[in-house]
Amino acid sequence: MSSENKYQDAIFVGEESPYELKHFVIPDHYTDDVDKLLIPHGVVIDRIEKLAREITRNYSDRLVVCCVLKGGHQFFADLVSCMKKLPNREGKSLPIDHDFIRVKSYENTASTGNVQISMTEEELCNLEGRDVLIVEDIIDTGRTMEALVALLKKYKLRSVKVASLFVKRTPLSNGFYPDYVGFSIPDTFVIGYCLDYNDVFRDLDHVCSISSVGIKKYMSKNK
Ligand code: HPA
Ligand code: MG
Repeated sequence: MSSENKYQDAIFVGEESPYELKHFVIPDHYTDDVDKLLIPHGVVIDRIEKLAREITRNYSDRLVVCCVLKGGHQFFADLVSCMKKLPNREGKSLPIDHDFIRVKSYENTASTGNVQISMTEEELCNLEGRDVLIVEDIIDTGRTMEALVALLKKYKLRSVKVASLFVKRTPLSNGFYPDYVGFSIPDTFVIGYCLDYNDVFRDLDHVCSISSVGIKKYMSKNK
């Protein structure tokens, strides 16, 4: 697929934001830490409603929706809450099981390249024969998802699909592209709607780029 085509299912978010920070509520404790407001919270929610409709009508049997923690938890909660009210392929309600995994590869704003996946052998074996939808907040280099999908494919799942709320347009991408994607975003570090920088900013609702002040203030002490 050409790179132009690749993003046509997603809302394209440009480098220049049409929004001004002064028109939105940013918590006082973060006023100096955000640079631009890229996507207002309401738009995120509206987009999730549409993704929920597309996803739900592609399934007919009981689905395992697997949340990638921690960043994916808000997307997971809002997505599943919509999916529960929507018709499946046969026009009926879709039974949904919940699963959670912890994946970590980031410190400060760079991928460490060392992807750690928290799933026991027993948990993986329990997925055999199941339809699984992985719910992730953001695909950046694609290495985390590539590693996770490769691992799951060894366990004879009936199907494995990935929904990511954001995909970053970065030259560091390994080409991994999710089955469902909300927004294509510019190559900048984003925070808000549960996306963190060293575990900070998950309590910011709007999706924003981080300022140099924010980067410095919450820099990890381990580096
Ligand atoms: N923000 C937060 N988490 C991330 C990002 C980002 O831009 N890229 C990959 N993980
Ligand atoms: Mg993530």
